[in-house]
Amino acid sequence: MHVHRSFSFLCLCLSFLRAGALFGYGVSRCQLTSTNESVYLEQFYINKMFLGQYNSTSGKFSGSTEKMKEIADKLNKNPSIMNDEKRNLDKCKTFLPPAVEALSKSVEPYIRLTSHNIVSSNHPNMLICSAYNFYPKKINVTWLRDGKIVTSDVSSTEELSNGNWLYQIHSLLEYTPRSGEKITCMVEHASFKEPKLYDWDPMPQSQRNKVAVGTAGLVLGLVFLLAGLIYYKKNAVDRVLVPSS
Ligand SMILES: *[C@@H]1O[C@H](CO)[C@@H](O)[C@H](O)[C@H]1NC(C)=O
Ligand SMILES: *[C@@H]1O[C@H](CO)[C@@H](O)[C@H](O)[C@H]1NC(C)=O
Ligand SMILES: *[C@@H]1O[C@H](CO)[C@@H](O)[C@H](O)[C@H]1NC(C)=O
Repeated sequence: MHVHRSFSFLCLCLSFLRAGALFGYGVSRCQLTSTNESVYLEQFYINKMFLGQYNSTSGKFSGSTEKMKEIADKLNKNPSIMNDEKRNLDKCKTFLPPAVEALSKSVEPYIRLTSHNIVSSNHPNMLICSAYNFYPKKINVTWLRDGKIVTSDVSSTEELSNGNWLYQIHSLLEYTPRSGEKITCMVEHASFKEPKLYDWDPMPQSQRNKVAVGTAGLVLGLVFLLAGLIYYKKNAVDRVLVPSS
């Protein structure tokens, strides 16, 4: 039986223990098989030695030693205990599939491209392509120069865990800018249908805004200049057509 996700929680089942140095415990576990079936397992140990278990697939307790087999037989004949175990399986069935579904959902990364000047390198510039808050962990971050994959002068961090199921990664490209070239960060992730491309824009938005304001100012200036010229010309023509008497 192939189990692809398993959730465990501990229960304390100390009732059949004598006091002293013995430490007994039980582990209750819900498992979802690859065929989407929920399985409820309860396993009992004493001083780490396996004693027996309840397995919802067989619907029975089983023991690992003669003594434990006797206990298991008794438990199997106890309708109230068997009922409790059936109810535990029902709990697994209601909470496990939604939990697995929530965990299997992928979360899209948020991508940021930044540029840094570096002094101690063969190259004057460094670009960093950062992917934040993605799930699952597997991701590919690749650099392209004019559409061709760049392999040299590239380094990357591991997928760093945020501690909340989400991950981040940072890929570094050291390079010497050439005019007219296009640098692209390509990201492949389960949350994307196809690889997403992020072009490096040497002129960030804030600078672009300044240029826009500058251009608007220039246009406005030209309009006034033109208006002034037309006014001047009109006056000049008037002066020619209507000479002062
Ligand atoms: C298991 O069930 C869930 C929800 O009911 C479904 O989305 C998923 O595809 C199923 N998986 C398999 C392997 O049948
Ligand atoms: C539970 O029982 C099923 C069917 O008998 C078996 O395939 C499975 O391995 C058992 N699980 C464990 C943990 O023993
Ligand atoms: C990353 O690249 C490898 C090799 O090309 C590919 O097999 C894998 O599916 C890619 N991973 C993702 C998350 O797209």
